[in-house]
Amino acid sequence: MIEREDQLIGDVMLRIEDGWAQAEVAEQGRGVQAELGWTLDPAHQGRGYATEALRAVIGACFTQLGLRRVHAGCFAANEPSWRVMERLGMRREEHSRKTGLHRSGEWMDGMNYGLLAEEWRG
Ligand SMILES: CC(C)(COP(=O)(O)OP(=O)(O)OC[C@H]1O[C@@H](n2cnc3c(N)ncnc32)[C@H](O)[C@@H]1OP(=O)(O)O)[C@@H](O)C(=O)NCCC(=O)NCCS
Repeated sequence: MIEREDQLIGDVMLRIEDGWAQAEVAEQGRGVQAELGWTLDPAHQGRGYATEALRAVIGACFTQLGLRRVHAGCFAANEPSWRVMERLGMRREEHSRKTGLHRSGEWMDGMNYGLLAEEWRG
């Protein structure tokens, strides 16, 4: 939850998951990364609150939870969202063609971003 002056203004999703691993080392790949997602009340957008909240969550992922990687995706047309990720230093890892079905019924291009613990510290 993103709160400001005791008011709920947004939400951050954190889903811990396994990293891709070959069968012989699958155990070592368990619970090592997280997918992130976010939303912010339109009345509170344009002031850096989503970036600030995500910076805190990413910091907790690497320091408190000891994860090795975080990643997140959005529609390529969702520029405010990928601007948040670029502001946080996340790396664009994928720009895919027509991979996400929008509620309008249109298959839209997608973006995926990632960040490693060592990149965050650096
Ligand atoms: C994605 C979303 C959270 C981005 O909202 P946002 O308000 O642009 O993001 P922030 O709160 O981090 O604010 C950043 C903006 O505030 C501006 N800003 C103003 N004052 C600021 C300050 N003191 N500090 C930082 N940024 C500030 C920044 O310049 C930036 O604007 P810009 O991108 O035009 O340069 C919002 O569009 C949203 O909720 N969308 C719907 C849900 C969604 O798409 N979720 C993602 C699906 S994966």
